[in-house]
Amino acid sequence: MALPEKFKAMVVSETVEKKFVREITQKALSELPGGELIVEVKYSSLNYKDALSASGNKAVTRKYPHTPGIDAAGVVVDSTTKAFGAGDEVVVMGFDLGMNTSGGFGQYLSVPSGWAVKLPQGLSLRDSMGYGTAGLTAALCILRLMAGGLNKDSGEVLVTGATGGVGSIAVAILGKLGFNVVAATGKADEKEFLTQLGAKAIISREEASDTSGRPLQKGRWAGVVDTVGGNILATALKTAKYGGLVAACGNAMSADLNVNVFPFILRGVSLLGVDSVEIPMRARQMAWNKLAGEWSVDLLRIVTEVSLDGLSAEIDKILKGGVRGRVVVDLSK
Ligand SMILES: NC(=O)c1ccc[n+]([C@@H]2O[C@H](COP(=O)([O-])OP(=O)(O)OC[C@H]3O[C@@H](n4cnc5c(N)ncnc54)[C@H](OP(=O)(O)O)[C@@H]3O)[C@@H](O)[C@H]2O)c1
Repeated sequence: MALPEKFKAMVVSETVEKKFVREITQKALSELPGGELIVEVKYSSLNYKDALSASGNKAVTRKYPHTPGIDAAGVVVDSTTKAFGAGDEVVVMGFDLGMNTSGGFGQYLSVPSGWAVKLPQGLSLRDSMGYGTAGLTAALCILRLMAGGLNKDSGEVLVTGATGGVGSIAVAILGKLGFNVVAATGKADEKEFLTQLGAKAIISREEASDTSGRPLQKGRWAGVVDTVGGNILATALKTAKYGGLVAACGNAMSADLNVNVFPFILRGVSLLGVDSVEIPMRARQMAWNKLAGEWSVDLLRIVTEVSLDGLSAEIDKILKGGVRGRVVVDLSK
């Protein structure tokens, strides 16, 4: 198949004044790294990490100009390995994609074959990006909690940052599985959205953030999916009930965690770290199979679709914690 010399992409550049500017421009295929697969990207999606990369956060992206996009779904157009052939539909996520390797916010990418999984049966390319890294992470958090023994009869399960990408999908999956989900949100006007997704109760961000200074509070949560870190994660640990399981995957509030050992040594609470970037392929595949099968949720309510041209505004929004659900990027437009 003849490949185009140029393709449309978002490129983030650093100016001499050390400012970061985004433009939608034509990029040469020869600028891509020499990976085993060349993929024509059909859809991508926006994650918080993309917004950090797109705004010059050097902990995520060291070198600019750069095309962000840690998620991509598309069709293999060239392969030097037997594992994939031209025409295969794939999801490419994690590892270095979109961080220091040109990512999904461009119509083509080139990656090692180990970064791709075949599109799970039962999912469309668009829906795979409706989940994206956020959905995969939500599934991985729930798998960790359930592997620790959490079930729908264990008691209330708290999801923090509940209207965000990871949070909204976690609420929807847990709700579908019959868990008693409590959503913590800073968006007072999104109660109906969260209830429709599956939350049985909603608490404010303030209620989820204890400032009493006490080492423990009344135990309430059997399980927690925390996407925000900081004092909300500390509070979740202090308010977990005996044997409670707390999965931590994010730092939208803060990367700090100021706790003492009492939740662990007096209540047997477990803090479970969840990573979606380097997670071994077997676990990644298991989570995708769940999302494509018994854990699939109604993405219509959760997804907003934009073209590359509409993406920059969504990046500004997610940086302020203002995005609801997931943003899918249609690369054909
Ligand atoms: N471990 C991993 O592999 C992995 C994978 C994916 C994402 N993450 C991390 O998980 C977090 C969530 O990612 P995402 O893509 O879901 O982001 P997102 O869509 O921006 O959602 C984050 C949500 O957190 C809440 N929030 C934002 N700022 C806050 C603040 N200052 N204090 C308290 N709550 C705040 C908001 O929800 P409400 O308004 O509803 O409170 C926001 O919608 C990020 O830190 C991301 O880097 C980690």
